[in-house]
Amino acid sequence: MVSVADALAVLGVILSLPYLYRFTYFIWLYFLRPTKIHHYLHGDAPYAFVTGATDGIGKATAAELYDRGFNLILHGRNEKKMQKVIGELRARGNRNADIQYVLADATKSGHDFEKLIAPFKELNITLVIHNVGGSNGVQPERLDERPEDYIHSLVHWNALFPLLLTRVLLPQLRRSAKHGPVLVQFVGSLAGDISPPRLSIYAASKRFLEALTRGLDNDEHYFDGPTGVRFTYLAVGPVNSASMPQKPSLNTPTSEQFAKAIIARTGCGLRRVAPYAMHAISQVVVEALGQRTVDYYTAEEMKTLIKTYQKSA
Ligand SMILES: NC(=O)c1ccc[n+]([C@@H]2O[C@H](COP(=O)([O-])OP(=O)(O)OC[C@H]3O[C@@H](n4cnc5c(N)ncnc54)[C@H](OP(=O)(O)O)[C@@H]3O)[C@@H](O)[C@H]2O)c1
Ligand SMILES: *[C@@H]1O[C@H](CO)[C@@H](O)[C@H](O)[C@H]1NC(C)=O
Repeated sequence: MVSVADALAVLGVILSLPYLYRFTYFIWLYFLRPTKIHHYLHGDAPYAFVTGATDGIGKATAAELYDRGFNLILHGRNEKKMQKVIGELRARGNRNADIQYVLADATKSGHDFEKLIAPFKELNITLVIHNVGGSNGVQPERLDERPEDYIHSLVHWNALFPLLLTRVLLPQLRRSAKHGPVLVQFVGSLAGDISPPRLSIYAASKRFLEALTRGLDNDEHYFDGPTGVRFTYLAVGPVNSASMPQKPSLNTPTSEQFAKAIIARTGCGLRRVAPYAMHAISQVVVEALGQRTVDYYTAEEMKTLIKTYQKSA
């Protein structure tokens, strides 16, 4: 006879299996799994394309890729700053990697994307990191207090620019994928999950990237393919950078620490991943607390943030 206690014990084990799986996977992903970044170093002269590469996360990620043997195509908006960054990268020494660049203001519409990437058309691009974007800090204005132009530029900066750039890169990414894996990563934000008050346009633009990631991956992997071109959405929590000078802490890595986390998680096969372990934990906590609690405390925190922002501005 199976007693009630036995039955409950079995039920308990069954119910805890998903948590056990999640926990084991967490340990594997963040502490044991070796990086697969070198899988993207294939073909003759492989290139990594990084947008918003002259500061913060983008610049640090470009440096990591350079150290690992990638040639680089960097995107920025300021020629002088770009030259300085390229000088810094070259000063890391080690090799004669090719570094090319393209300048374009990502908040502006009307770029001729074919023309922008024409100089790189023949190159073997195996990794794309769509990092450009941002929220302009935190501000008190509501949607109806924003001019239409502002909204266009914020959405273009975070969502349309990476979308339109991906569109023109796809044919050559498929070509590179004929001799090895190719990965396009979109830098997202945990703000996209919780849409904090006064950050709804930014949050929606990041959420756009998440839907795009899954859809494009479905196109290339399940419908047309597999073509070998894969997509990943990076769920990013607080990171110390040029535009977000928040103090580094356990939950807030420096851009350099965060870039190492991006490299470590590259090629993990997930279509959504938080590169940094503490950000993955925040995500679990947010899910566990539920929307009402999260939204209440986020609103309180945004009030404080907006006040400190206004004082420092
Ligand atoms: N830091 C965080 O806490 C955090 C959290 C979640 C998500 N993210 C996301 O991470 C990404 C990088 O953020 P970050 O904090 O590293 O930013 P950052 O330090 O401000 O660096 C942004 C980079 O993008 C370039 N850039 C900015 N606006 C541009 C424009 N309109 N056109 C062309 N290039 C432009 C900057 O060029 P200049 O050097 O010329 O300024 C710089 O190279 C963004 O997508 C952001 O949404 C950041
Ligand atoms: C890209 O890689 C392939 C495979 O190694 C090679 O045949 C081709 O010449 C490379 N293209 C360039 C421009 O280096």
